[in-house]
Amino acid sequence: MKIKKPVISAAPMVDKTDRYFRNFVRMINKDVLLYTEMVTAQAIIHGDLERILGFDEIEHPIALQIAATTPEDAYKAVKIAEEYNYDEINLNVGCPSDRVSGNMMGACLMAYPELVLDVLNAMKEATKKTVTIKHRIGIDGKGILPDNMGKTLFEKYEDMLNFVNIIEKAEPDRYTIHARIAVLAGLDPKQNREIPPLRYDEVYRLKAEKPHMQIEINGGIKTKEDIEKHLEHVDGVMIGREFYDNPMFLAEVNSFYNNGNENITRDEILEKMIPYLENLERNGERTHLFMRHTLGLFHNAKGSKYWKNSISSQNLKNNKASHIVREILKNIRKSEI
Ligand SMILES: Cc1cc2nc3c(=O)[nH]c(=O)nc-3n(C[C@H](O)[C@H](O)[C@H](O)COP(=O)(O)O)c2cc1C
Repeated sequence: MKIKKPVISAAPMVDKTDRYFRNFVRMINKDVLLYTEMVTAQAIIHGDLERILGFDEIEHPIALQIAATTPEDAYKAVKIAEEYNYDEINLNVGCPSDRVSGNMMGACLMAYPELVLDVLNAMKEATKKTVTIKHRIGIDGKGILPDNMGKTLFEKYEDMLNFVNIIEKAEPDRYTIHARIAVLAGLDPKQNREIPPLRYDEVYRLKAEKPHMQIEINGGIKTKEDIEKHLEHVDGVMIGREFYDNPMFLAEVNSFYNNGNENITRDEILEKMIPYLENLERNGERTHLFMRHTLGLFHNAKGSKYWKNSISSQNLKNNKASHIVREILKNIRKSEI
């Protein structure tokens, strides 16, 4: 197991944490653990591998997140992914979307700990790499889980404990726990990240009762102070939306690694963007796919509107992104924004 401490991760987010975003993160922070978007095992088994699994060396350390319904699929997918040399493979047991729950993947699996145990064992059989799991503190499965299960509510601390007691037999290297339950019917995925209350104490309690486990907490973490507070109780923190919406937070987080980059400035980041964009342009790739992830670079700062307008998709259609960024950099340096 090669886990670098403290573990601070950039959460997996579909439609956001693609290669372009991950390259952008690396222009700001070289140490946070990156996650791919969730990929189903079936997509890996049948899909265009380079498009689904390809990543750049600079993205290390990087974890691949998979969703799987059966141990057989999980085994096959992880074996295939071995070619790509991810640092970690993570199993998604936290996604509440219908599309995923309806296929017996994601958060609904919290009602089937024995199956999750088998899936984790299959993953560990397929790789020597770090194998981890991301789950919720519980689920409300009314309307989705079959009535003949006996119960559809798994929302108490004891339910999470029971889940963990079973899956820990597979010895996952880390448990990342989104500290709110998922409501499988009635709330959409966005609401499921906002409405069920955060219950950090239950994650702390699990770590206190099972100190041998590596536990990472997730949900609503927005500041360095939040991180410090959580690290008094658990081994790591995972941050999703705040890194995406406010990428300069990634710069602040450098202070946890003593890597000398905590004072990296926006113009230094823009400078790093130029050769990256030029490379995309040479390869005929659409630079909008990268630039769309950088909209928050001036979050709550002077120049935010100017930045967003300058990199609008319309502007990117008419001008080379590398030229736009070069121009903006000049203006910033002349303090013209
Ligand atoms: C747009 C979006 C897509 C997401 N996709 C995934 C996903 O693919 N896999 C997953 O485990 N969680 C996914 N999540 C949940 C995040 O990983 C994270 O658990 C959640 O946003 C709470 O953390 P935060 O409050 O720091 O954002 C997604 C979240 C968002 C906002």
